[in-house]
Amino acid sequence: MSSKRHILTAVAWPYANGPRHIGHVSGFGVPSDVFARYQRMSGNNVLMVSGTDEHGTPVLVLADQEGVSARELADRYNRMIAEDLVALGLSYDLFTRTSTGNHYAVVQELFTGLYENDYIFARTTKGAVSPSTGRTLPDRYVEGICPICGYDGARGDQCDNCGNQLDPIDLIEPKSKINGETPEFVDTEHFMLDLPAFAQVLGKYLDSKSGQWRPNVLKFSVNLLNDLQPRAISRDLDWGVPIPLEGWSDEANKRLYVWFDAVIGYLSASIEWAKRTGDPEAWRAWWQSEDAESFYFMGKDNIVFHAEIWPAMLLGYSGRGDRGGTPGALGALNIPTEVVSSEFLTMEGRKFSSSRRVAIYVRDFLERYSADALRYYIVAAGPETQDTDFTWSEFVRRNNDELVAAWGNLVNRSISMAAKNLGAIPEAGELTGEDRRVLADSRAAFDTVGEHLNRSRFKAALQEAMRTVAEANKYISDQAPWALKKTDPKRMETVLHVALQLVSDAKTLLTPFLPASCNKVYAMLGGTGVWSGMPRLEEAVDSIGGEEGSSVYPVITGDYAGNEARWESTPIRPGTPLSRPEPLFAKLDPSVADEELARLEEKAGE
Ligand code: MF3
Ligand code: ZN
Repeated sequence: MSSKRHILTAVAWPYANGPRHIGHVSGFGVPSDVFARYQRMSGNNVLMVSGTDEHGTPVLVLADQEGVSARELADRYNRMIAEDLVALGLSYDLFTRTSTGNHYAVVQELFTGLYENDYIFARTTKGAVSPSTGRTLPDRYVEGICPICGYDGARGDQCDNCGNQLDPIDLIEPKSKINGETPEFVDTEHFMLDLPAFAQVLGKYLDSKSGQWRPNVLKFSVNLLNDLQPRAISRDLDWGVPIPLEGWSDEANKRLYVWFDAVIGYLSASIEWAKRTGDPEAWRAWWQSEDAESFYFMGKDNIVFHAEIWPAMLLGYSGRGDRGGTPGALGALNIPTEVVSSEFLTMEGRKFSSSRRVAIYVRDFLERYSADALRYYIVAAGPETQDTDFTWSEFVRRNNDELVAAWGNLVNRSISMAAKNLGAIPEAGELTGEDRRVLADSRAAFDTVGEHLNRSRFKAALQEAMRTVAEANKYISDQAPWALKKTDPKRMETVLHVALQLVSDAKTLLTPFLPASCNKVYAMLGGTGVWSGMPRLEEAVDSIGGEEGSSVYPVITGDYAGNEARWESTPIRPGTPLSRPEPLFAKLDPSVADEELARLEEKAGE
């Protein structure tokens, strides 16, 4: 057996500009949690961090529209998002936010290290200004034709059609999204990250990932290297991390670009986590030891930032860009082992593709259906390697046919039968060939499912786990223990013993996907202690941003390290009392799909 690995599970930071919908959590949320839970069950040291992404135009623009401050808006959605992610059972070691004093300090340290190694330089560029108001126009608020692919509707920061990063001045026929006027471009000074100075080291890095990363992700990342340009990492804004250089730090209208600060969140959150545990150096085991590994989870619109810009920042800070340098004060830092990106999830796409406002929010979803039902759907039918469309009818079908009829029913029928007839887990008598075969098959699934999970092939992993559920159901139907009660009660006990062992194994195999309901199955089979820990919200205190004083904000954390769940078949204990189980999942009436569609139509009509 290999020894314990240190595995950083780095989860994309949701913007604090609104509640998150099921598309968001199928990109970053559920996959990362399945991965982290599996790795913990395998005995590895997992650190799972994230937080809300609060700076930059996304938050600022909405705050403007609502007539509140950016801080008020960020506070509101930080809390709402944290609550929703807890409700989904996402097991963050720390979910924090980008507006903490700790984050500001770490971001400024990274900037300083990059600047001292000459990977950041100042340059005068042209910035978009609204002629009617004289105010700076944020990049996303300039729209026009993409100079690369010709798509009409590209934004000043990025073209959603071809995925290339842009500058507002590159757009053909630029227009202000706010009032349609043509922006003026005026001189403004900005800091640039010198991406061309990483061409060789990034090339080698991506070469070494061939065959490991998802093919789409790797191909996209390699393509980016064909056109490496210096990239602006500051903005004319008053909301963000100040630039830590003389003459710049007190400029009211210059801040670091939101993406520059957000990716550093992975590091700052790890450092914040370490401080909170009372061992402030503890983060280093995930960032600096040679054999530490890091897996980054996100939607595909984030690839450029994680496979190109963030590695470049880490390499530059560590003095490992093409021009060398010396590591900054924190020491050299590891670059991502894998960028695990999902594709997009649309929601009832055919019907609602024209009105992009229509989304199914996590909060609304969980008011009516269980977290595990959503998690199941996202893994089984989500956008792991291609864009997919969520439909309510498919949700109802999978819930009823797979969760309720296959897995829920297996648990229910085997535990009920044993509880009613025997009141406890029975001993096994002599095993038949078929008993041995089905038990061996179930044990072997730990390797196959585990291998899939290790490679972030979540859909394949779930399918394989559910195959063992189908096998177990077939075993029970074939053996018909109910018919043995009179004819051969000893054999009935053996069959029920085997069935319960299969249930116990399947519960372990399904734990990364369905932690809440598997915790229940663990308890039904007499398990004690915490099987697979669930996250909780805590109130934390820190200075917020550059401001004086301290502030209270919610963080997600949890105790997962000492959990009982192990990635192996654990023998059930004969004699353990059993009682009649409660149903694990609720069957949904087919009318649910129509009701939910009507809800969406109503929203679309508003
Ligand atoms: N807020 C970004 C988004 O929702 C993701 C940021 S991931 C980061 O697309 F960690 F790099 F910040
Ligand atoms: Zn384009």
